[in-house]
Amino acid sequence: MGTASRDGKPGQGSGNGRGKPARKGGTGQHGAKRKPHRKGAQPDAATGRVRLNNAKPARKQVADQTGDGATYISDGMRLQKVLAAAGVASRRGAEEMIAAGRVEVDGEIVVEQGLRIDPNTAIIKVDGARVVIDESKQYLALNKPKGWQSTMSDEQGRPCIGDLVSERVMAGQRLFHVGRLDADTEGLILLTNDGELAHRLMHPSFEVPKTYLATVRGQVPRGLGRVLRKGVTLDDGPASVDDFAVLELHEGRSLVRLILHEGRKHIVRRLLAEVGFPVQSLVRTDIGPIALGRQRPGSMRVLDSKEVGELYKAVRM
Ligand code: URA
Repeated sequence: MGTASRDGKPGQGSGNGRGKPARKGGTGQHGAKRKPHRKGAQPDAATGRVRLNNAKPARKQVADQTGDGATYISDGMRLQKVLAAAGVASRRGAEEMIAAGRVEVDGEIVVEQGLRIDPNTAIIKVDGARVVIDESKQYLALNKPKGWQSTMSDEQGRPCIGDLVSERVMAGQRLFHVGRLDADTEGLILLTNDGELAHRLMHPSFEVPKTYLATVRGQVPRGLGRVLRKGVTLDDGPASVDDFAVLELHEGRSLVRLILHEGRKHIVRRLLAEVGFPVQSLVRTDIGPIALGRQRPGSMRVLDSKEVGELYKAVRM
């Protein structure tokens, strides 16, 4: 079933027939060209696209399925309320976003206030990034401490991230971690129960960049970045970084930052060892658009709706 509705069902005679256009052309969720809805345009029976209007619905109006997506229902939730409930902005702020043409529903930009949608099925985007309405979905950022296993349980009784989320798990949340870090590595791990997002974040084809800070012994030479960007050969094949920078040279050590989008085991340690600079300490600071920021080791935070939207965007969801 589709998702969007107006206060009235266009062309059904429930209003005064002077319904206003609600949406501007938008980019379809699968990249389809945006279809502009001109003021006064009539429903297009051929495409199934029906111009939305604001006419008041009959009290118990039923859903009207159109040909290619949009469904008009009477008892939907107002878009600005949905956006506010999702934490995108205050209701007033959401209205301003709508008026500014920043909000898309099911592939079309909505510029008029009052659109009623089914929050369970509508695909809403703000500035092209998905707004996740599903309250059952959890998105957490954890700073895994050094010395902890990246697992939900450990047979040998070693500390693991499952210990850090045990209260949530006991409360019924089915969380899993997105990828792993070595026990010796500190830093950002995402936890979620959103399987498709997790799968895409881990899949190399989506090329989500991860940023690491590594401390190595010695002074790294100029030109090391060029070598690493070009790539080196490891036991299991070639590997390269997307970006490399020397941040500090201090007391016989170098602090370097690497950005790479692959997730092979011990990849950063192996890369740096291969070029003669074994890692002394390693921290992952970013996964795509999500930054560890000032989060302390062992601490966890809930991602805000903007961050979740950016994650979705990063993996083309
Ligand atoms: N590369 C490593 O060497 N270790 C990690 O934990 C992550 C990336």
